[in-house]
Amino acid sequence: MIQLLWNAPMHVAEAIASRRSIRAFTAEPVARRIVEDILSRAARAPSGGNLQPWRIYALLGEARDELVRRVAEARSQHPMGEPPEYHVYPPRLAEPWRTRRFRVGEAMYALLGIPREDKRARLEHFARNWEFFGAPVGLIVTIDRGMQPGQWADVGMFLQNVMLLAREHGLHSCAQEAWAVWHGLLRDYLSIPESEMVFCGLALGHADDTAPVNTLVSERAPLADFAVFCEHP
Ligand SMILES: Cc1cc2nc3c(=O)[nH]c(=O)nc-3n(C[C@H](O)[C@H](O)[C@H](O)COP(=O)(O)O)c2cc1C
Repeated sequence: MIQLLWNAPMHVAEAIASRRSIRAFTAEPVARRIVEDILSRAARAPSGGNLQPWRIYALLGEARDELVRRVAEARSQHPMGEPPEYHVYPPRLAEPWRTRRFRVGEAMYALLGIPREDKRARLEHFARNWEFFGAPVGLIVTIDRGMQPGQWADVGMFLQNVMLLAREHGLHSCAQEAWAVWHGLLRDYLSIPESEMVFCGLALGHADDTAPVNTLVSERAPLADFAVFCEHP
């Protein structure tokens, strides 16, 4: 609140700490100039050799609504879309990653009040991905097929910038690999060339503060679990 009154800039650490994946948005629109501002500033992200391998299809207004309608219609034939063009997760997810994935999923469904047995309700929540969780802006992120792991990492850095800059505008986001299963439909609708692969989507808008699912604060492993400090040879 103090920040709003004084229009003080948001510290990076605050943007990082307040960014969470939001899975329920209000219908409040986001102006195109704000999306343009976020995307152009996000493009200051570093990339190996300055390749800038990100490519974004920004969907607003009717264009966003029409995509959501097309997916809803396509679901009658293919309820879960089609196999993505890349492995969203390793085919055999080992520990500790398997447990981490399980725990965040269970924490989310607990907030939604959907038990493990209710597969249909879980699927219906998952399908909300394909409505951008109600967000007024949807980004579809693609990458040239020839790009290698380094360039996928570059796109990740760009996306993190997008999500942090969104916080400066009072907006929230959710990165969405769930869109990878609609690559064919997206290719037709957005005229995405064959040379590009659909990596993910990203929902952008105002968080619905009344939605319990938005209270989820996912766990993180402690520093000692992922960092090795070497001070002596
Ligand atoms: C590239 C990427 C794709 C993701 N895809 C989805 C998705 O399809 N649906 C979803 O609900 N969350 C998705 N997430 C959100 C992750 O589940 C989330 O980042 C993770 O659980 C950590 O939680 P946090 O973002 O709230 O810190 C994705 C995140 C990333 C980085």
